[in-house]
Amino acid sequence: MSLVQSQTAAATVPFKITDPERIPARRYYDDEFYKLECERLWPHIWQMACRLEQIPNLGDWVEYTLLDRSVIVVRTKDGVKAFHNACRHRGVPLVKSGDHGNCQAQGFICPFHGWRFNSSGENTFVYGRHLFSERQLEKADLALKPCRVEVWGGCAFINFDDNAPSFRECIGPVADRLEAHGMSKLRSEWWYATVLPANWKTAMEAFMEGYHVMRTHPQLQKAAPALYNMMYGQDTGGIGQPINPNLTVRENIQAQFEHLKLLSQGMAGMVHAKEVEIASHLLDVELPNDPASAVQMWFGIVQDQVAKQLQARGEPVPDLNAVAVSDPVHAVEFLFPHYFLLPFFSSMSSYRIRPLGPESCLFEIWSLTHAVPGQEPKVPMTPTMLPYDSKEFPPIPQQDYSNIPLQQKGVHAGGFDFMRLSQDKEGLISNYQRIIDGYLSGVAPAKLAKATQLLGGNFDGKVLELGL
Ligand code: FES
Ligand SMILES: [Fe+2]
Repeated sequence: MSLVQSQTAAATVPFKITDPERIPARRYYDDEFYKLECERLWPHIWQMACRLEQIPNLGDWVEYTLLDRSVIVVRTKDGVKAFHNACRHRGVPLVKSGDHGNCQAQGFICPFHGWRFNSSGENTFVYGRHLFSERQLEKADLALKPCRVEVWGGCAFINFDDNAPSFRECIGPVADRLEAHGMSKLRSEWWYATVLPANWKTAMEAFMEGYHVMRTHPQLQKAAPALYNMMYGQDTGGIGQPINPNLTVRENIQAQFEHLKLLSQGMAGMVHAKEVEIASHLLDVELPNDPASAVQMWFGIVQDQVAKQLQARGEPVPDLNAVAVSDPVHAVEFLFPHYFLLPFFSSMSSYRIRPLGPESCLFEIWSLTHAVPGQEPKVPMTPTMLPYDSKEFPPIPQQDYSNIPLQQKGVHAGGFDFMRLSQDKEGLISNYQRIIDGYLSGVAPAKLAKATQLLGGNFDGKVLELGL
């Protein structure tokens, strides 16, 4: 796109952000804005299409849908491939939305006239070939249309744009940092999904700061008030340290342990139960008298023991204390635009969000952990679908889901013109939204990739200069 075109396009973006601390409310429900996202954002970005343990064998495939586009991700002898899910005859999808299977024996068979395609996308059968003129059956032209796919972090990522910068170029160094934490060796233990009556950005942004913990997850704040007040508050003696100076060393350690337990139960993972169990045997270790140093040292000991004991069981866990120094990661790591991870010790939670309409999105959560090779958990092939207010969700997602639909209603209120962000703690929301504006305005892809790289590690972060 030429500069002139790009400036013209920029002028057409409605509700563009002009003050980085204020996000116009209409961006969360306006039809025209949503339509622009569908046209200018989603077809050009890397999307998490599936977990690789869903397709371990040759011919295994899963379908992935985003808006009106569908792809088949398949394990072939040449690695993981993706194809647009449309028969080359008259366009009928070869597989159903959300489905999975194995195409090794029979290939993909079109349900309309029975044309077939193998795992490499080649056409292997046309019923009544003689009925078609020769030029209509040219081999290369009959093959399924490939879609870009890259494998990282135990997942396949697809991009509908053949000219977009590579996945690595867009994600940046956070990819290596997460990989150092054993990302690609994690396995899913469970997978939940729900439809939230909220714009996809409303849903994403509920996870971009920990500032909401005090009110949304009060049990966490109550267990370790000094930890949260250190980050967001100013009313305790614990300012600057995640400890309460009025408590003894042991009481402080106990508080940290209770907090870990609440995180673990609250997420049914993330801090895995096996890690809490290891920590529970370390409450009496020798520690310095100063509570701040004691808490720090205790976390180091727990991290060390989690790594050593899980390694001893045969789990491919990295040296957690070493990677915490060499490749530090944040409590939440976002991969623009719709996938994020919550790493903790050796396990993680992971989230994916897809728009279904201006005020509706599909929200998925996986619990990931390491496993002894040969003893991996049974792979969840489809998510357990629940209503968003289901009590079957772990407690912390329940709490998050209780606010998101309310907020979506709230942004429609008369006189509510913009989200008012903290420039120090809610900056990621602004950074995300301004990159979206970059896509909608037609900013050059290389520039967008550079800006996107800045998002890595910006959880609870500052409003950044993105160079857009
Ligand atoms: S549309 Fe697929 S065989 Fe006709
Ligand atoms: Fe939350």
